Amino acid sequence: MANNPNEIFNRVGPGTPMGNLFRRFWMPALLSAQVDEADGAPVRLRILSENLVAFRDSNGKVGVIDAFCRHRQAPLFFGRNEECGLRCVYHGWKWNVDGDCVDMPNLQPPANYEELKEKARIKSYPTCEKGGIIWVYMGPEDKQPPMPDFEWLNVPEDHVMVASWIHHSNFHLPMEGEIDTSHISFLHSAQPDSNSVVGNSLAMADDGAPEITLNETKYGYIYGSRRNADGEYYWRVTQWMLPMWSAIPGAMGDFIGNGRGWVPIDDHTTMAFCYLYRPDRPLSDEEQAFSKSGAAFPPRTEYRPVELRDGYVIDAYDTIANKSNDFLIDREMQKTKNYTGVWGISEQDRTLIESMPWADRSEPGILDTSEELLVKSDYPIIKARRILINLARDLEKGIEPAPAHAGGCGVRAISIKSPIADFEELMEKHGELGQATVKP
Ligand code: FES
Ligand SMILES: [Fe+2]
Repeated sequence: MANNPNEIFNRVGPGTPMGNLFRRFWMPALLSAQVDEADGAPVRLRILSENLVAFRDSNGKVGVIDAFCRHRQAPLFFGRNEECGLRCVYHGWKWNVDGDCVDMPNLQPPANYEELKEKARIKSYPTCEKGGIIWVYMGPEDKQPPMPDFEWLNVPEDHVMVASWIHHSNFHLPMEGEIDTSHISFLHSAQPDSNSVVGNSLAMADDGAPEITLNETKYGYIYGSRRNADGEYYWRVTQWMLPMWSAIPGAMGDFIGNGRGWVPIDDHTTMAFCYLYRPDRPLSDEEQAFSKSGAAFPPRTEYRPVELRDGYVIDAYDTIANKSNDFLIDREMQKTKNYTGVWGISEQDRTLIESMPWADRSEPGILDTSEELLVKSDYPIIKARRILINLARDLEKGIEPAPAHAGGCGVRAISIKSPIADFEELMEKHGELGQATVKP
C-alpha cells in the first residue's frame, strides 16, 4: 500500500488508491456536443490514465470503449462508426457500445468462432447521458452507485449551460482553487468601473481576510466565508462534493450558480467540466453571452487534437490563452482595470495554477505539499486533501466510500449580504437556499 500522502494524492491510474477511489464515482467523460451525431466521428479520451474512445452508435447510444483494437492494437479513433458499432479499419473487426465483438471479417468463421469473439471482447464502461454530458462509470460492476443528484442535472435544458476544457496540471490544483475563498478578493478583483468579466468588484474586494466556518457533510463539506461589508457581512457559502466537484455562488443575492468538476486525465493533466445554471428560469441571452465571454467559461477555446506529455492524442477544447503566450497578459489592463491583466475568471486561475512549479518539474504534475506554507485561510483545501487521502486509504482496507453520490449533493451555493454574524444562524434563516445541507 502506498503510504506517502503525496503519492496517494497524485496518482490516479488503475490500481492506485486515489484511482480506485475515483472509480467509485460516476464522472463526466465528454460533452454530448462532441458526439452529437449518430454514426459520427469517434472521440479520443484519456480518463484516470486509461486510453479510451467514445462514439455514438446508429441508435444514439454512446459507448466508451478501449482506444485500441483487440486484434493488433490499431487505434479505433480512425475506425468506421457504422451500423451499431465501431469498426477497426486495419482488418475490419467491429465492436458495439458494450464492447462485444460483433464481426471478424478477415477470417473464415472457424469452429471456435463464438469463443474467439468472446476473447475479442473489448474494455467498455457503462455510460449515462445527462445535463449535456456523457458520464462514465469505471469501477467494479457491483459497486456502481446511482448518478449524482446535482440540482443542475435536474433542471430543464434551457436553464443550464456546460463547457469543458483541458487543464495542464493535476486535478488537485484547480479543484483547490474552487474552495479557496480568499483568493477571489485578489486574483479576481477589478476596478469598480471595469467590465465585470475581467474581475469581481463586489464587497469581496473590501475584506480580503474572510472568516471561514466549515461543516463536514455526507457529500463532502459546506463552508461559509464571512467578509465585513458596510457594517454587515457578505457571506459566500460553498459546497465541495466528492470526489472533485464545487458549487460556487453567483453574484450577491442572485440564483445563478456555477461550479466545476475536475476529471483527472492522468497524473499530470485534467479535464475541466463547468456547469452554470438557474433553478428558477431559463438563462437569458445576456447571461449566456456573459458566461461565455469569460465570467465562467474560458473566453476563447479551440476544439482540436491535443498531444499529451507521452505523445498520446486526445480530442479536447484547448484554450487560446496558455503558458506559451503568458496567458495573453496585458500589463496595461493590470495597471488600470484588474489585478492580473488577464481576461476571464477561469483564465486568471489557469495563469497561476498551470505555472506552479509542480506543473512542469521532472516529475510533472506531482504536488509536493511539503513545499507549501499553508495558513488559516487554506483550511478548506487542507480538509479536502485529508478527506480524499483518508477515503483512499480506507478503500485500500476494504472500507467503501459512503455514499459515493448516493444522494445529498443536490445542494445550492449562497451569496448574500446579511447582518447575521454566525454561520449556523445564517443557515437557519437562509438554509432553504442551501437545501437543508447545512448540518452534517
Ligand atoms: S488491428 Fe484492428 S482489425 Fe486488425
Ligand atoms: Fe479562482
